[in-house]
Order: sequence, then structure tokens, then C-alpha cells
Amino acid sequence: MRVVLAGLAMLLATPAVHAVDAAAGRAAFKRCANCHQVGPGARSHFGPQLNGIVGRRAGSAPGFDYSPAMRRAGFTWDEQRLAAFLRDPDAVVPGNRMRFWGMMSERQVGELVAYLRSMPAPAPTPK
Ligand code: HEC
Repeated sequence: MRVVLAGLAMLLATPAVHAVDAAAGRAAFKRCANCHQVGPGARSHFGPQLNGIVGRRAGSAPGFDYSPAMRRAGFTWDEQRLAAFLRDPDAVVPGNRMRFWGMMSERQVGELVAYLRSMPAPAPTPK
């Protein structure tokens, strides 16, 4: 239902939606938070912590046991890659272990990417 509403909101929104809202992305991140942490003190958990993910090499969070596919992905996350991954993880990193079926509107993808972009790389975290 919420997805439908978000889709509607997207249709009704003015074209000036470009200033995507990192705050909205923070709310959207709830659907990732079962597996991922981000922000001060974030740790890899069920999934890798995502601080500084924009500009971070894929499969490189210390202490996380990535799939071979993700370890070998061989690229650095930028906004385009992230958005594509959220739309279809397997299309970007075939054989990766992230299983995520949350349907997302394009607007939510944009908000999530804006939010993640706003979360800096971590200071070294104590184990
Ligand atoms: C059910 C658990 C789960 C959910 C929900 C989930 N992820 Fe993941 N995610 C993972 C796992 C596990 C990996 C590591 C995959 C691998 O090693 O192949 C991963 C990997 C990633 C990576 C690559 C990280 C890196 O260090 O290269 C990104 C980016 C990511 N997830 C973003 C998200 C976002 C954003 C959401 C919410 C829309 C989300 N994930 C939802 C489990 C999850």
C-alpha cells in the first residue's frame, strides 16, 4: 500500500523533485536496516555496514564475509551503480548474496542514494 502511495506521490510531484531528500531516504533505509547499519558506530552485521558506500570499493568493508561474487565485483560504488543495484541487485553483481525484494519506486531509490551519499566514511571503529 505504501508503495502504491509513494508511486502516486511520484506521479503527482512537480518536475522539481531533483532536490531529492536525504531525510526521506533515511526513512526508506528502514527497509535495509534489518541487515545493514549506517552512521556513527555502524558495524557489519547481517550485511556490511554502509558508511561511505558512495566511493567505496564493492565488497571491501573490513570484517564482513562477502560472497565471492561481491568480493570480485571489481568496481567502486557510485550513485548510478547504487541505484541500479537497488533496482536489481543481481543485474549489477550477478550471484551476490543480498536478497532483497522490497519494491521501490524510482523516487525511493533516489532518496536512498541521496541518504547514503550523505553518510561519510567511518572513523576507524573498534572491533
Ligand atoms: C536481507 C538482508 C538485506 C537487506 C534487507 C538489504 N541488504 Fe544489502 N546486502 C546484504 C548482504 C548479505 C550483502 C552482501 C552481499 C554479498 O556479499 O554478496 C549486501 C550488500 C549490499 C551492498 C554492497 C556493499 C559493499 O560493501 O560492497 C549495498 C550497497 C547494499 N547491500 C545496500 C542495501 C540497501 C540500500 C538496502 C535497502 C534498500 C539493502 N542493502 C537491503 C543484505 C541485505
